[in-house]
Order: sequence, then C-alpha cells, then structure tokens
Amino acid sequence: MTATTTDQHHGTLPAGFLRGFATASYQIEGGHDQDGRKPSVWDVALKDKDNGDVACNSYNMIEEDIALLKSLGANVYRFSISWSRIVPLGGRNDPVEPRGIAHYSKFIDRLIEEGITPFVTLFHWDLPYALQERYGGFRATGEQREELLLDWDRYVRVCFEAFGDRVKHWITHNEPLSYVYCHFAFTDDYKLDEKWTVGKNILITHARAVDIYRKEFQRPDTVIGIALQSEWVEPIDDSQAAKDAAQRGMDVSIGWFADPIYLGKPNATVEKLAPGAYDFTEAEWAILRGSSDFFGINHYSTQLATGKIITEDPPIINTMFGSIEMTQEPGGVPIGHRGHDGHPYTVPWGFYKLLKYIHATWTNAGVSYIHKDIPTYVTENGYAEQDERQYTFEERINDKNRVNYFEGYLAALVGAVQEGVPVAGYMAWSLLDNLEWTSGYKPCFGVTVVDMDGGTFKRTPKSSGLYIKRFFDEAVASKA
Ligand code: BGC
Repeated sequence: MTATTTDQHHGTLPAGFLRGFATASYQIEGGHDQDGRKPSVWDVALKDKDNGDVACNSYNMIEEDIALLKSLGANVYRFSISWSRIVPLGGRNDPVEPRGIAHYSKFIDRLIEEGITPFVTLFHWDLPYALQERYGGFRATGEQREELLLDWDRYVRVCFEAFGDRVKHWITHNEPLSYVYCHFAFTDDYKLDEKWTVGKNILITHARAVDIYRKEFQRPDTVIGIALQSEWVEPIDDSQAAKDAAQRGMDVSIGWFADPIYLGKPNATVEKLAPGAYDFTEAEWAILRGSSDFFGINHYSTQLATGKIITEDPPIINTMFGSIEMTQEPGGVPIGHRGHDGHPYTVPWGFYKLLKYIHATWTNAGVSYIHKDIPTYVTENGYAEQDERQYTFEERINDKNRVNYFEGYLAALVGAVQEGVPVAGYMAWSLLDNLEWTSGYKPCFGVTVVDMDGGTFKRTPKSSGLYIKRFFDEAVASKA
C-alpha cells in the first residue's frame, strides 16, 4: 500500500500505455427516462428490483466523472453507449434521438479535452426492449435474424457517423459468454441450448460492425475489436483428465469466440458440442476472420478443473465451461482471498497464465489469422469485497483486500509484459461502485464510493483507486 510496493515496477510498461477504468451505461448512468431514452431489456427485467433508474447518476455528472478519472491518473476511459439513448426503439426505421447523440458527443469532447482517450463499447448488454419484444433480440433466427442484423448495422453506423471522427478505440460486444446467459434474466422461456444461437448472432453482428467500420470509417490510427471474458482454468493436478478438462473449459468459455476471430476457424471442442454453432455462410466467415485489431480481455479469477465432466444437470456456471467440474476451494482451502459470494477469488498467477495463454494461442504473429502480433487490452479486471455495502464509509475507503488484489494482478501483468506479451492497456473494473445487474447494488466493484444513500452521488476514491494511480505513475515509462 505504500510507495515501496510500486517502486519495483519502475518503467516496466511502455510509454503511451493506456491506463484507466471501465464502466457500462446501464450500470452507472441512471437518467432512465431522460432525453427520450426508452427502456432496455434490463429496465423491464429489474423494474421492481434494484435497477438502473438512477444508478450513479453519471448521465448528469459528466464533469464529476471526468474530474475523478483525472484525479486517478487515467489516460483512458472505457464506457459504453446505450442503444436506447441513440435509437430508443432500436430498429432501423425507428427515429434517432439527437439528445442522446449530443450527450455522448459532449462527453467524448470533454474527455479528449482533458487528455483521456475514450474507449467506447457499442453494446454492453442493454438492448432496446422493443427489439426483444419484436423478434427476441439476439435470440432471433430465420427471417427475424435478418431484422436483427439490419437493425444492428444501422445502430452501429449511426454511432460511427456521430462519434467516429473523434473516437479511435471501439469495442463491438462486451463478453458474449455472459450475454448468452444474461438472457435467463430477461426472457422467461429461454432455453440453455439457445445460447449457441445467441452466440452465433453475437459473432456475426461483431463481424458486421467491424466490416462496416473498416470499409467506411477506419482511419490509420484507429482500432476496433471485441472484449471477451475468461477466467483462467487450471488443472487441479497432473492427471490427463484434469488437463483435458481445463482445456475443455478454456475452449468453451473463450475459444468459442476467440478461435473464429483470431484463428479464422471454428473451435473444435465447441463444434463437437454444438454442430450448428458456426453455421456461417462463406461470406460471413470472410468478415469474421481477423475481425479484431486487438484482444480485449475481461478477467476476474481462476478455477481449478478436477478432471470430471458433470453429465447430469450441470449448474449454469459449469455449463459456461463445457460442464467440467471445478473448484476454488480444493480440500476446503480457498485458492485465494474470497471476494463477494466468491466473485472473485484473488489469484494473480492465473491472470499471468491467462495473458501468456492468449498470446501463445491467438495473438502472436505465428498463429494469428492476420500473421501479425495483436496487442492485448485488459478491458476489465477488478474485485468486490464480501458485503462491502454494509461497511462504514471509512471501512469502504480503506479497501485493503482490493488493494491486495490490484497489487497482485498488476504485478502479474508486468510479469507477462516482461516476457514478451504485448499488452497495450489496462482498464480496471470499475471506476464506480455500480449496479451489478441481477445482483443489484450489493456487490461493490468500484475503486470509488458513490454516495447513493445520501442522494448526493458524491464520488470518493478508495485506497485501491489511489494505489492504481501510484502503480501506473511508477510503472509506465516516460517518453525517451
Ligand atoms: C461485466 C460487468 C460486470 C463485471 C463484474 C463483467 O462480467 O462486463 O458488466 O459488472 O463483470 O461482475
């Protein structure tokens, strides 16, 4: 926690490294009915629960958020655009809302004026509800899928047209793996097997956004890509069964999306499990292959694969990893400090292994589809303390366990970079304590307390936010 813990990292990251924080529109903005915004799927699903009606009030606190970012030394901010503010009813023939565009336009201008690079996510799960009603949103198949694709194309084109003259870093989708499961929260009749359909629609909409961008909007210094998520899955022992299970876990949780994009081919494990998962036309494959200029990775923790596959009714969390049996408390001993309801456990070595694995598997010139080294951006990484919301203000500010988490994970990042993994940026999750989807406001992932109970929404940085600032002040090399 003192300066000594950062000294050792002096100059270990390249000059120009992007260092900052991440958020998502529905989790922080509030202003749910301001300036013509219409409901997203979450407004409806969370109507009578903790919801995003007010959240951190960021929609009305642009200047406060920018001041906070500056005070934490950020030179990048990852945030997402709410489709429901830009095209409130979602569809290609529905009206565009100029006030929504003006809001983000102003925010982008102000970030740039303050020397903060906007890293913009086009879709962080908040689909306009009207599209979910019209054709099931990302569940759409057949002719309705065509509707989805055309509505998506129009939405992203409006964003590129409105903001593309200033935004140089774009993310299409956030965590396809999570979003395919989010559907349980907002669609009553969702079936597990539909995840393959949703996954396919996410892949193809990603590819179409990139194709549109590259053909119509790309400039020499701009990038576009996707943010995938992955826990690291480690075999619990040396047995072949544990090794195979760990590989299966990585294949299904991240290879599902990463292989087509970075290697230009289906993931073999996924294809075996779901023969239709990559049922793309040749024209679709052509825009999917090589469709990310960087590897965006959201990472929180590590799982141990025991070597068994659960065949009878695997819990949802296991199906995300190909139904392998996993533990984070082998023999009753936690694998690392246990965060809020076990999300996450603090396991820095897993992050190091994941960064190495990404490079070896997808992004080095020898394997990547484009035969060029592809940089990695850590687009999320963060920690929630058990029941932090119930702590006193002082306790929340002195968030030692979160500081420990970042100390370990940032050291792991440096370790991977020193071994040749090209990481170009790091965005901690999250700038603010915010709405954790169906878990409401209980989990706190922020490096900043937001005064929600008092209604002032005042932002107060925690020790962890200040630690991150000190770390990067020390670690990022000054220009030669
Ligand atoms: C998501 C965030 C979420 C965070 C913490 C990621 O899965 O992108 O929206 O709040 O993890 O769980």
